[in-house]
Amino acid sequence: MRHLFLLALTALFTAAAPAAAQDTEARWSIAIHGGAGTLDPDAMTPARRAAYEAALQNALDAGARVLAAGGSATDAVKAAIVPLEDEPLFNAGRGAVFTWEGENELDASIMDGRDRSAGAVTGVKSIKNPILLADTVRTDSPHVFLTGAGAEEFAAEHGIETAPPEWFATEPRRESLERMKAQELSSLDVDHKFGTVGAVALDMQGNLAAGTSTGGMTGKRWGRVGDSPVVGAGTYADNRACAVSATGWGEYFIRVGVAHEICSRLRFLRSTNWLTLGNRRVPSGETQAISQLAADAVMNEVKELGGDGGVILVTPEGHALYSFNTTGMYRARATSEGVNEVAIFADE
Ligand code: GLY
Repeated sequence: MRHLFLLALTALFTAAAPAAAQDTEARWSIAIHGGAGTLDPDAMTPARRAAYEAALQNALDAGARVLAAGGSATDAVKAAIVPLEDEPLFNAGRGAVFTWEGENELDASIMDGRDRSAGAVTGVKSIKNPILLADTVRTDSPHVFLTGAGAEEFAAEHGIETAPPEWFATEPRRESLERMKAQELSSLDVDHKFGTVGAVALDMQGNLAAGTSTGGMTGKRWGRVGDSPVVGAGTYADNRACAVSATGWGEYFIRVGVAHEICSRLRFLRSTNWLTLGNRRVPSGETQAISQLAADAVMNEVKELGGDGGVILVTPEGHALYSFNTTGMYRARATSEGVNEVAIFADE
C-alpha cells in the first residue's frame, strides 16, 4: 500500500516537473498609464493621438529596457515615470494642472513589493521629478510621507534636481483654471481626462513595484491632497499579491483604498490556495482572470460611490492588466513574452 502511494507521488511530481520548470523561468512585465477620464474620439485628431502614443511608447520602452537588462522593478517604475513627468501632455511634473492660487503643486508615491518599503511626497512646487524624490524618501529616510516645505528641504539635502515654476506651467492648463473660475465650473468640467501618470512592474527577480505621480485636480485649494501620493489608495505593491497604480477622482480612490484593496483581495485568494494549489500553480489563464475580476470588482465599488478612473496592475505571474470605468485611459504594457501595446479608448 505504502509502495503504491509512493509510486503515485513520484508520478505526480514527474508530471508536474516540466510545468514547474516553465513557471520558474525568469520573466518581466510592465504597465503604465497617463490618466483615465472622459476621452472623446471625435476630439482626438490624428496628430494628437500620435503624440500621446509616442509619449506612452517612449515611457514604456524606458521601463522595459531596465527590466530586460535584469534591473529592479523600482528602477523600471522610475524610468517609465520620469519621461511622463517631463512630457507636458500629462498632468504630472511639467504640464501639471494649476491650483486655485495659480501654482503647480505636485504629488508622488512609490512602493517596493519586496519589503513593502514606500515613499511619498505631496504639495511640492520645485521638484523636477517628484517620483525620484518619493523614492529617496523611501530609501534615505526613516519616513514614508513628506509634505510641502519639509519635503523640499529634504530634497535639497539629498541633491534632488529642482526646476523653476515656468518649467511646470503650460498654457492649456492655465486656460483650464481660468475657464473654471470664469464659468464657475468644477475641476471635473475642465479636467476631461485626469492625466495622472503611473507605472507597475515585475522584475526578473520576482519583485513587484508601483509608482504614481500627479498635479492633482485643477483649482484644488485648501491643501487638497488626492489619492496619488497616498500609499494604499493610489499606489500599492506587495510581492505576495500584485502592484497597482491608480488614476482618477482621488477622493473616491482614497475612500475605497483602491490599490491596497485590490492587492488585499488577491493576497487573500492566494493564501486560501485559490491561486496556488499546494506547490502547483493554477494555470496562468486562470490567475489572469481572477486578478482581472478583483480589479474590476474594486473599480466597480468606486463607480457605485460615484467616482471614476482606472488602475493598472501586474501580478507575480507577469500578467499586466488594466481596469477602468471611464471612456478611455492612456495606457501601455509590455512583457518578456512579447506583448508590446499602447491603447487609449476603452474598446481598443
Ligand atoms: N488622482 C489624482 C488626484 O485625484 O489628485
